[in-house]
Amino acid sequence: KKKVVIFTDTGVDDAFALIYALKHPNLNVLAILAGYGNVSKEKATRNVYYLLKETNNTDIPIISGASKSLAGDSPTFYEEIHGYSGLGEIETEIEKFSVLNFDQFYTILDENKDVTLVNLGRLTSLAMTYITAPDIMNKISDLVIMGGAFLVPGNVTPYAEANFYADPTAASVVINNSSPENVTLVPLNITEKAILTTDVLDTIVQQSVTKLGSLLEELFRPYFKFYQKKNTNLKGAPLHDLTAMIYVSNPSLFKSLFRNVTVVDDSYFASGLTIADFRSNPTLQKNSNNYCRILLQVDEKRLMEEFKRIIIG
Ligand code: BDR
Ligand code: CA
Repeated sequence: KKKVVIFTDTGVDDAFALIYALKHPNLNVLAILAGYGNVSKEKATRNVYYLLKETNNTDIPIISGASKSLAGDSPTFYEEIHGYSGLGEIETEIEKFSVLNFDQFYTILDENKDVTLVNLGRLTSLAMTYITAPDIMNKISDLVIMGGAFLVPGNVTPYAEANFYADPTAASVVINNSSPENVTLVPLNITEKAILTTDVLDTIVQQSVTKLGSLLEELFRPYFKFYQKKNTNLKGAPLHDLTAMIYVSNPSLFKSLFRNVTVVDDSYFASGLTIADFRSNPTLQKNSNNYCRILLQVDEKRLMEEFKRIIIG
């Protein structure tokens, strides 16, 4: 089994990614860290507990992550997309549960080899580890990050993707401090194409023998409505973080290339923009820390087939 630690800001697409990972027979989720992003850190943490409970996984530790960016700005939350709780219309006001301190993340890495870290939210918590405990980060065998947008429009500004935009300094710290070829970026270029259609979801709901099908439907309905408001012809909605998680279990569904990546963190207009050299003869510095794998193509049909197989199975 592949050992994974997930950093999340538990909105709707994060929830799909978590449910997929928890259900996957070849993934072993060691811990989940929740931080601000789609919603506040408190809501994100509560949502993780809710999902662990719904999937009978309350033995998996929850770790407390960052509550604001490195620069200390008050975060912007996205209730219109992810709902008041972060999980659509689901109410997650529940009983008390325990949450571990951030340093427990180091203990988990100390005790485990070959851990894949999957970052599905703002990069603040991850940057904090590079700043406070750089040696610990060497223990991570793979770092998969949902974020960035290369030569395509952003989703929060004309240029930037939300996870990189909300804390561009953190994104830059992570990319410039990890080892060459250690980071895989899962940008909007592919996550916006990987649409879960209502048809596929309906099949999952009908064929699912557990209550998971109806939980997914409840999560998806208001989220899909938000996307439909922007475009009434849509047949589904993108689930960015789910695409990143499916990469962890099925990398062969994706095509990628390596480039040196820069995150713009010193510009008012282009903050969070991700830059790489896509000329036919690019300049490459293969030994630089920022030499990352970028996923640029995915077999969308097989991606959703894989999701269906894991949920129904
Ligand atoms: C990313 O931003 C978050 O709002 C989503 O959950 C996803 O991780 C998409 O830009
Ligand atoms: Ca997310």
